[in-house]
Amino acid sequence: MCGIVGYIGFEDVKEIILGGLEKLEYRGYDSAGIAIANNNVVNVIKEKGRINELRQSIDKSITGNLGIGHTRWATHGAPNHINSHPHQSSSKRFTLVHNGIIENEDELRQKYLNGTVFTSDTDTEVIVQLIEKFVNDGEEVPLAIRHTMSELKGSYALAILDNEDMNTLYAAKNKTPLLAGRGSGFNMLGSDAMAMINYTNSFYEIEDKEFLVITKDSIDIYSIYGNKVVREPYKADIDASDIEKGTYPHYMMKEIEEQPFVVRKIMSEYSDEDGNMFMDPGIVQEVRGCDKLYIIACGTSYHAGLIGKQFFEKISGKPTEVIIASEFIYNMPLLTKKPLFMFISQSGETADCRAVLVKVKEMGHRTLTLTNVKGSTLSREADNTLLLHAGPEIAVASTKAYTAQITVLSILAALVNNNKNINIFKELSKIAYIMETLCDDKEKYKELANKYLVNSRNCFYIGRSMDYFLCLEASLKLKEISYIQTEGFAAGELKHGTIALIEKGTPVIAVITQENINLNTRSNIKEVKARGAATMVISMRKISQETDQIIIDDANELLSPLATIIPAQYLAYYAALLKGCDIDKPRNLAKSVTVE
Ligand code: F6R
Repeated sequence: MCGIVGYIGFEDVKEIILGGLEKLEYRGYDSAGIAIANNNVVNVIKEKGRINELRQSIDKSITGNLGIGHTRWATHGAPNHINSHPHQSSSKRFTLVHNGIIENEDELRQKYLNGTVFTSDTDTEVIVQLIEKFVNDGEEVPLAIRHTMSELKGSYALAILDNEDMNTLYAAKNKTPLLAGRGSGFNMLGSDAMAMINYTNSFYEIEDKEFLVITKDSIDIYSIYGNKVVREPYKADIDASDIEKGTYPHYMMKEIEEQPFVVRKIMSEYSDEDGNMFMDPGIVQEVRGCDKLYIIACGTSYHAGLIGKQFFEKISGKPTEVIIASEFIYNMPLLTKKPLFMFISQSGETADCRAVLVKVKEMGHRTLTLTNVKGSTLSREADNTLLLHAGPEIAVASTKAYTAQITVLSILAALVNNNKNINIFKELSKIAYIMETLCDDKEKYKELANKYLVNSRNCFYIGRSMDYFLCLEASLKLKEISYIQTEGFAAGELKHGTIALIEKGTPVIAVITQENINLNTRSNIKEVKARGAATMVISMRKISQETDQIIIDDANELLSPLATIIPAQYLAYYAALLKGCDIDKPRNLAKSVTVE
């Protein structure tokens, strides 16, 4: 779940690599490092902590036109200096950065590397030592790298330098993302296109078990067996300005405020020339034709899936089950005769989802991915893809991808039912307007976060039906960026045990958007209030004078989470801001979770 960048060309690499790493910091930020090659010397600089700390420690007099860089989310070995990348072989001839996990590192140490003195606790060091061993055994460098690849079990995106060859950058990939960027007089490598977009918008996708030999004028792709692969480059659908914060203090705030625009953009992407809803008829037909939809996702995307299930069952009459990807393999449901598997993933790279995709494909089932990232692994490997069109989401906490997922799911569900029960475009237009008005009330959310959340150790969101699913997402947002322990509960369930945790001042935020649950959830508010809770309500009606309220204009009840999530995201944002937390990069997390 780390990020890697590489450059070979004519410019000094420092800023190119550091700038690329900053764009990839969302993939992990435990430590960062860079290797700069010049005159057969490779200088390695690495620091625990953020790219900024690395930047401070680089001696400006070190220059070079060839380099690699890494930002780390620790898996093997503590997040400290020695375990930071790049790693070097014993003689320091080879220098390497790695994103992924090597599962058979112990076996490889015993089989090939007895007597090698290791300087870190990482699985990565085994790779660089193996390359050196095979070269010392007489293999040419490209063969030694391919030989190493054939010995590795697990996932890797690698960028490799050889200090005896200043004209070549090597790379390899398996089960973790890697792109090569094509320039004029230079070429690049990166974990995603954003890391290179300031320099090029022409990319080669790299497939699993491929090996690359890159010079400043050429990118040659080979299979693990050494056969040359011919592939056309593609242009990424992003603009360098999409990934700038502009005047916003944090990406999260920018992304919260982009949400009404994202809903409208999705409507225009999924409409025909006459403005009527349109999606690939093959995909719509496939959902119509399956006897059950199995939605697989993690985290926020799983929460969007829970809402999607309501759309498919209530709008399209299609039985739907939603399963946490990492649980699927252990508790596989009994499958129906004609299932369709739908993967919901902002990044399209989540390893837990990919493991399920591989499994169900082996079983011969049909698959559909909903993702924000064109060309991502889950998109390439599924039978079909629907894009979210949310634009790059940079803050680690997902906001606009969640609303994009719900929006795309609602359109698909309506199309599956030939748009009979509900005019979804009309409802979405109305919701986009409500979202906009909610974004105008920031100061109020800030005051409420200050009053209810900043000094609290814990917090509860309660709601029923659609509001309950929203509460799960609202509580994830608050806990992941403010570190306030927050749980989302089905309001009726609280009294079956958890109400024991309510004491004087415990914040309880109730969400009430549906008429049929209004009275019951209001009773639950009274129950917790009687036990000392500090209650706040997000609702479509005024409830009482005594409780602070965020009022949402009347919206379609099924789509209400698109509106109610806005104040919840802001409450999380301001709680984190007032507590001094790192909003865009919360501790221990990474944006793209490419390990199981
Ligand atoms: C939380 C968050 C995560 C992701 C989860 C799945 O704010 O962003 O819970 O939703 O890691 O990621 P994707 O959607 O990329 O598969």
